[in-house]
Amino acid sequence: MIKNTIISDRNMAMELVRVTEAAAISAARYMGTGDKEIGDQAAVDAMRAVLDTVDIDGIVIIGEGEKDEAPMLFNGERVGNGNGPQMDIAVDPVEGTRLLANGTPNAIAVIAASASGSMWVPEDSLYMNKIVVEERAKDVIDINDTPSSNLKRIAKALDREVHELTVFVLDKPRHKKLIANIRKTGARITLHTDGDVMGALMAAIPGTGVDVLMGTGGTPEGVIAAAAVKALRGGMQGKRDPQIYSEVKALTANGVDINQILYIDDLIRADDAFFAATGITEGSFLKGIHFDQIKGVTTHSIVIRALSGSIRFIEGSHSLKRNLEFGDKGLEQAVKMASM
Ligand code: FBP
Repeated sequence: MIKNTIISDRNMAMELVRVTEAAAISAARYMGTGDKEIGDQAAVDAMRAVLDTVDIDGIVIIGEGEKDEAPMLFNGERVGNGNGPQMDIAVDPVEGTRLLANGTPNAIAVIAASASGSMWVPEDSLYMNKIVVEERAKDVIDINDTPSSNLKRIAKALDREVHELTVFVLDKPRHKKLIANIRKTGARITLHTDGDVMGALMAAIPGTGVDVLMGTGGTPEGVIAAAAVKALRGGMQGKRDPQIYSEVKALTANGVDINQILYIDDLIRADDAFFAATGITEGSFLKGIHFDQIKGVTTHSIVIRALSGSIRFIEGSHSLKRNLEFGDKGLEQAVKMASM
């Protein structure tokens, strides 16, 4: 655990939000196209370009995958201008590529950073079971316990009844039993096809309308969410939950203990962590990108730092130059605007 290390006297997340703004603006042009790749690529390009202007010596721990498959923001890639502190970086240029492709709510651009060597590396783990709550309930969660027992304790910690809780669950066939068990408790459920980083964020912030996140999603998304939850002083536990044969095989071959509980301090082994996210499609928590020839482009972001506990919601207004469209020059423009 890297304790009480002030990585920077500046709030890096204030720099990193430029990165997610650029990614979100670039990706948003492709909302509703039905194409998952094109918006993601636009976001990757913009994110990479703006990251290079940030004063960090970063290494991508959670990125777009291995170098051979991802030309940019691949795991192990160095990012930043090399002038600042050494940091581990986790990115998801479009968290919810299907949400973007379908134009449905809650696609976001996300980045997290923490001291070099402090971010957990998922290696062969692709899926993770997660439970996330806000600070007041952080000591009562137990990922090995039943939904019913967890919800009873969470309700008590939050001074509520179980039926007054809302649980965010990914709407996946693997969650049939989980959903049925939650329903039996009387708690309310909000089902989402994608986007459990947003679910974790909402669960960790009081008053968002989501009190708990439960269920299995991506492991990389789990590490990114952990940075946010840590910064928000919320509670989170994770446990590898392999879903596909190749994943089981790889974990078994490497002797990985899939029963290990991953606590928040295992996922982010540092006191300080930075998190920034910008809405791409319209969401109840973060608004999406709005294009307007007169007002310009509007972005809505959240910026969090663990050490200071500061949470900022930032509405950005990015002016469009006359006649400049988000056509061919969209990427260049998004990068230029977000770098200003
Ligand atoms: P992408 O942005 O990579 O499409 O991920 C979206 C997402 O829903 C995550 O929020 C979640 O953790 C993961 O996919 C779940 O994976 P799967 O859809 O394979 O169950």
